Amino acid sequence: MSNWINKRKKDIYYRRSKREKYRSRAAYKLLQLNQKYKFLRNISIVIDICCAPGSWIQAIQSIKGKNILILGIDINDIRPIPGNVKFLKFNITSPEITKKIGPLLPNKADLIISDCSMHTSGISNLDVERQNYLIKCAFEYIVKPFLKKDGHFISKVFQGSNINNIKKEFKLYFKFVRFTKPKASLDTSREMYLICKNFIKIE
Ligand SMILES: C[S@@+](CC[C@H](N)C(=O)[O-])C[C@H]1O[C@@H](n2cnc3c(N)ncnc32)[C@H](O)[C@@H]1O
Repeated sequence: MSNWINKRKKDIYYRRSKREKYRSRAAYKLLQLNQKYKFLRNISIVIDICCAPGSWIQAIQSIKGKNILILGIDINDIRPIPGNVKFLKFNITSPEITKKIGPLLPNKADLIISDCSMHTSGISNLDVERQNYLIKCAFEYIVKPFLKKDGHFISKVFQGSNINNIKKEFKLYFKFVRFTKPKASLDTSREMYLICKNFIKIE
């Protein structure tokens, strides 16, 4: 039964994304997260980590218009997106990324979003560990240096034994930390989203 529900959910969001011209059904995850946590308010600069094929960029533009500056980063290319969009093709696990981002932004970001994932191995502990490594790199090399004080960070995480540790760690840096799973995320997927609001800048 749950397989049937998941397949149907996948089909519904897939068909909707085709109709509404989003590059993937992932767009609805971001839109649903924002509906609940309102992190797209009062923002003018966004970094979208692991942005390919670009549906989160499109989703932000659908709410904020095309003038908002979005810097997308991915190890894979994306087809250009009209508007104030910059793209950096780079591996986020390389510390060199910090040097690459600086010259591309006029100021620090109000919001950093991250939807990174690699091909899963099927070995659940390994997949969780790899995912955590991506989050750690995103946080060290991009969020810490480029998020404004009081800015927000939204990231995909995999459900695993260390969710409480992640929460504890992020609570050192943000006033508000929650885990959530949007409706558009399949029940069979281990992904969840970490919502961190109001960055406490520790110099
Ligand atoms: C689920 S997709 C992101 C979908 C995107 N949010 C959208 O709405 O179109 C995950 C992305 O993570 C990227 N990725 C995985 N590991 C990466 C790494 N080490 N550096 C940069 N990008 C990476 C993949 O290339 C892939 O495009």
